[in-house]
Amino acid sequence: MITATDLELRAGSRILLSDATLRIQPGDRIGLVGRNGAGKTTSLRVLAGEGQPYAGEVHRTGELGYLPQDPREGDLSVIAKDRVLSARGLDQLLRDMEKAQTAMAELVDDAAQDAAVRSYGRLEERFSALGGYAAESEAARICANLGLADRILDQPLRTLSGGQRRRVELARILFAASDAGAGGKSSTILLIDEPTNHLDADSIAWLRGFLKGHEGGLVVISHDVELLADVVNKVWFLDATRGEVDIYNMTWQRYLDARSADEKRRRRERANAEKKAGALMAQADKMRAKATKAVAAQNMVKRAEKLLSGLDETRQADRVAKIRFPEPAQCGRTPLMAEGLSKSYGSLEIFTGVDLAIDKGSRVVVLGLNGAGKTTLLRLLGGMEKADSGGVVPGHGLKLGYFAQEHETLDHEASVWSNIRHAAPDTQEQQLRSLLGTFLFSGEQLDQPAGTLSGGEKTRLALAGLVSSAANVLLLDEPTNNLDPASREQVLDALRRYQGAVVLVTHDPGAVEALEPERVILLPDGTEDHWSPDYLELVQLA
Ligand SMILES: Nc1ncnc2c1ncn2[C@@H]1O[C@H](COP(=O)(O)OP(=O)(O)OP(=O)(O)O)[C@@H](O)[C@H]1O
Ligand SMILES: [Mg+2]
Repeated sequence: MITATDLELRAGSRILLSDATLRIQPGDRIGLVGRNGAGKTTSLRVLAGEGQPYAGEVHRTGELGYLPQDPREGDLSVIAKDRVLSARGLDQLLRDMEKAQTAMAELVDDAAQDAAVRSYGRLEERFSALGGYAAESEAARICANLGLADRILDQPLRTLSGGQRRRVELARILFAASDAGAGGKSSTILLIDEPTNHLDADSIAWLRGFLKGHEGGLVVISHDVELLADVVNKVWFLDATRGEVDIYNMTWQRYLDARSADEKRRRRERANAEKKAGALMAQADKMRAKATKAVAAQNMVKRAEKLLSGLDETRQADRVAKIRFPEPAQCGRTPLMAEGLSKSYGSLEIFTGVDLAIDKGSRVVVLGLNGAGKTTLLRLLGGMEKADSGGVVPGHGLKLGYFAQEHETLDHEASVWSNIRHAAPDTQEQQLRSLLGTFLFSGEQLDQPAGTLSGGEKTRLALAGLVSSAANVLLLDEPTNNLDPASREQVLDALRRYQGAVVLVTHDPGAVEALEPERVILLPDGTEDHWSPDYLELVQLA
């Protein structure tokens, strides 16, 4: 169980949450929701014990599995499979068994060989006592369900993409949680932050089933409303503008109804307050004319101001970033071409001989299963990585804009302001400030290091960087990940309006529909085809 009392959380000087009491018990399946930057990740970190609250206390009992929103740093030389097995301490045992096995085979001295045999026996005994063999296949099953192929599991974490690393972490904590206790039920509390970001549709469906059956207590942050609808039996709605968390002990659908009723009530209260304040002001205006009533008039103004001051916050909560894409610079007929692109990692061939021609203003979607090389292709086109053979041929007037899935175009050490300054060195300061304003960055937040931004804020900042660039070919890798629904709509709208060429990688069918692509590129073969709605199904599988 986790209990938090009188919890206060802050971001810089801003209060995200105050006086909150939160409890996670067995059987709870809680959806933690709220706008980008509301403090969901911060709250979960604190509940997991990886961050300290500004005030208040958190008590934890029992086992805990925590999946952070960003890929973990830590020791990257570990083999992926060992990382998963380490959740139950099996990795070391397996390694020792292997060592003893080699010793048995290689040692010639009888006594030494005997010792190795005995040592192997002991290890093996402990391994099976811990349910090792069943556990190992359990781990393999979970990994397969999360789309982690065997060859990936044999690689060190360093060689994996951020998305693959996150899937390994997810597999690890689900593996730990699938260890049924004495009553045949898991007692692990799962705290998971945006688990679906790097998953394909099959894996998401499997994950839903897993989470739905989890008995030990669960808090999940997700922008996947289908997952929430399917899994959660309680909802915590975090509203940073009020610094409060609203607790709804009900399913997702009931929560949606209850919240829209709450919002209606708040809107009504706001309208009432505005009306009253208006009347007070009008009255005060009339009274001001008479010297004898000046003080009373002054008091009325004060009262009106007080009524209204409570409202600004509510209004701010409704603010949505106005996301748009750049005015594309002039360019020739085919601004971007690629010839015979090939790429391998070690002995693993990703694709060979891919030819491309991206015409001015054309719209292309890249499709392919997990690991087919979609991100790699965009990285090659964006010049972030070099092809083994073949190359990218820039056309006349090409200006590329690249949006990276893992936000690697952002300098995490540098502030929000210097990031955008760097992205658009020639733009006037005032213009940049107002651009950042439309993307909802202002005041103190301009000085914040980009690395400390929330997931959705990082996405917004990276997109703002594109806008100031006059790019005429946008390479977009999962541009809707991490965004709350209102901000996602803005990105879709920007996609619809953009006049330049787009090469899009996404799991989000809504993004493809907004793009209205003319063509698809199918990886790993690099085959091109005209777009047809039949491909939409493939988008989710990808
Ligand atoms: N060191 C810091 N200084 C100032 N602000 C910070 C710092 N670290 C985090 N923040 C801010 O705290 C707020 C809450 O961040 P958090 O990551 O918890 O949001 P979130 O609700 O998880 O958002 P998202 O949906 O985008 O993931 C954000 O506005 C973030 O920019
Ligand atoms: Mg977050």
